[in-house]
Amino acid sequence: MSEVKSIAVLTSGGDSQGMNAAVRAVVRSALYHGLEVYGVQRGYQGLINNDLRPMDLRSVGDIIQRGGTILQTARCKEFITAEGQQKGADVLRERGIDGLVVIGGDGSYQGANKLSKLGIKTMGLPGTIDNDIPFTDFTIGFDTAVSIVVDAINKLRDTMTSHERSSVVEVMGRHCGDIALYAGLASGAETILVPEVPFDLDQVASRMQENFQSGKRHSIIVVAEGAGRGEDITRGITERSGIEPRVTVLGHIQRGGNPTHNDRILASQLGDFAVRMLMEGQSSKSCGIIRGELVATDIDKVVSTKKPFNMDLYNLALRLSQ
Ligand code: ADP
Ligand code: F6P
Repeated sequence: MSEVKSIAVLTSGGDSQGMNAAVRAVVRSALYHGLEVYGVQRGYQGLINNDLRPMDLRSVGDIIQRGGTILQTARCKEFITAEGQQKGADVLRERGIDGLVVIGGDGSYQGANKLSKLGIKTMGLPGTIDNDIPFTDFTIGFDTAVSIVVDAINKLRDTMTSHERSSVVEVMGRHCGDIALYAGLASGAETILVPEVPFDLDQVASRMQENFQSGKRHSIIVVAEGAGRGEDITRGITERSGIEPRVTVLGHIQRGGNPTHNDRILASQLGDFAVRMLMEGQSSKSCGIIRGELVATDIDKVVSTKKPFNMDLYNLALRLSQ
């Protein structure tokens, strides 16, 4: 016997590749188990506006491979207020919906937490390129974003090597350095600047000079947006060394395109897991995978914990980039 009969799904905050695969998994898994399922358009804004539609098997056809989100997403100030949250809960209750899957980042999770306190069973799926949600090894979209950055660095490397230049590449991640770390390691970057590890521009500049003197024909510096602006880092290096790196800000390119197979599989597993957790009567949990195991962790714990930074990978990148 399921504890919920009718559920809804929404995507919220910044979009990420694999959100569609997660929506598909939630819808198909819910239907498989005999539940009714609704899609909410434009995140919490759509919830407040009663912008919901019933989903069937065909509503989520041909989307597993698509970036973006067919449900669209929004940032909704009204939902941060108690009145907004009450409106959202009322809309769900009036439609007889007793469970909600929220696909988004930690802000969206806070909204799910509030709805849970108003009697709606909620499950969070970590949908963000930033990989900044703890209690899951990876978030949905991170793998694709990293592969986009790696691909961009490969291209930059070609032209940098021809001209014996250096390149500063600014990547997203908000306060988290994971995109920079993983993409930097995977692309053999000489320097990785992240908010989790303090750095000294004097050392960065002198290392670059040493690298060129030791015969390196290019130098790639990956900077996470949380560690500083690519432009400022570039200026700082030029002032200290006379080297004039070219700067590339990858921006929203990192949030688009087809999700990798890793993101599609992660999204499929987590979407199905979220439905099963709701059916068991669980609420206000974040779904994740840790070392291959599906885990559901209290959202309260998730939003009050900082994701630990992988210093082993960071040190490995340093050792290998000499
Ligand atoms: P993300 O989910 O990617 O972290 P945001 O921080 O922009 O993105 O949050 C997405 C939406 O979640 C916000 O626009 C708002 O509607 C809702 N939200 C954020 N914080 C809260 C909160 N403290 N209480 C209720 N809802 C919130
Ligand atoms: O959280 C995803 C993210 O792309 C961050 O990496 C970035 O800091 C932010 O969203 C950009 O937000 P916006 O799309 O509103 O410019």
